[in-house]
Amino acid sequence: MTALLATRVAKPDAAAIADAVRLLAGGGLVAFPTETVYGLGADATNGNAVARLYAAKGRPAFNPLIAHVTDVEAARAIARFDTDAVRLAESFWPGPLTLVLPKADDCAVADLATAGLDTIALRVPAHDVARKILSGFGRPVVAPSANRSGHVSPTTAEHVLADLGGRIDLIIDGGATTVGVESTIVACLGKPVLLRPGGMPREAIERALGHPLGDPARYPGAEDAPRAPGMLASHYAPHTPLRLDASQVEAGEAMLAFGPMLAAGTGGAARVLNLSERGDLTEAAANLFSHLRALDAAGAKTIAVMPIPRHDLGEAINDRLARAASGR
Ligand code: TXA
Ligand code: MG
Repeated sequence: MTALLATRVAKPDAAAIADAVRLLAGGGLVAFPTETVYGLGADATNGNAVARLYAAKGRPAFNPLIAHVTDVEAARAIARFDTDAVRLAESFWPGPLTLVLPKADDCAVADLATAGLDTIALRVPAHDVARKILSGFGRPVVAPSANRSGHVSPTTAEHVLADLGGRIDLIIDGGATTVGVESTIVACLGKPVLLRPGGMPREAIERALGHPLGDPARYPGAEDAPRAPGMLASHYAPHTPLRLDASQVEAGEAMLAFGPMLAAGTGGAARVLNLSERGDLTEAAANLFSHLRALDAAGAKTIAVMPIPRHDLGEAINDRLARAASGR
């Protein structure tokens, strides 16, 4: 059991950043904004802090974490980069791309953080607040999305407080995140493989590599390990069932719309929210999790979801919606 903590919420001024760094150094848990979603940070080199983090999230302990660092140089101290990994890091860091790489021999990250795997997920976030905390702390910070396990990822400090209030030490409130879906995860353990679609579109990654990404079924260790982790079916589930690719909304349903509203109208709907009226996938990604939360709270029998194109950020949006629909 986690003892109840007085969770503080603070604006990201210098005093709050210093506080975050002090808490991390003492094994504490600090939620902070990244450009994708809010992360729940702990000292990656402190096994006890990582254990507290799993407990606060209620996360199955076999799901490994992403280590966040300030730059490629810090990343090279904990993982081995091949040519493709170097190219991706140079093209997209800082930014919403996570690389899964072989751990360096003298990797300082606690074994618990990687769930005992000999690979490690690494990311250099682009958000100013995340960067200030990382450079002030000077060590890698593991940070899963700052939600209880099985809930949708938080894109505001209010979401974090609702999920983790009383279970963590501090929330730095940097406003709503801009990307809105988690980072794209690519494994570079041989031919690069897309493990999780996310905030960096597949098309951009394939352009930088000069060749297509591989198939996750061929990910080494796929048979026995948490495969394309983040792939627990129930990971992104709201409580209300989802009905995908809906072409109309029924009485008593809530609706998650995309693009121009239905010609048939939405009369009788419990609540309607549009991801992007102008059909912009970037805007839709930024709104996805907060709209899902708001519709989940509407007390509707189902959430009808209009079709969303599958290219660019649409791949990640459709992936999260499919999980939300199936994983209950
Ligand atoms: O945008 C993001 O990536 C956010 C922000 C806070 O950085 N973080 C995030 O973390 O989404 P989390 O823990 O919710 O998802 C990380 C995913 C998990 O599905 C985990 O299984 C996978 O990364 N992962 C971590 N280490 C791995 C490894 N060595 N091999 C394969 N997958 C790994
Ligand atoms: Mg998560």
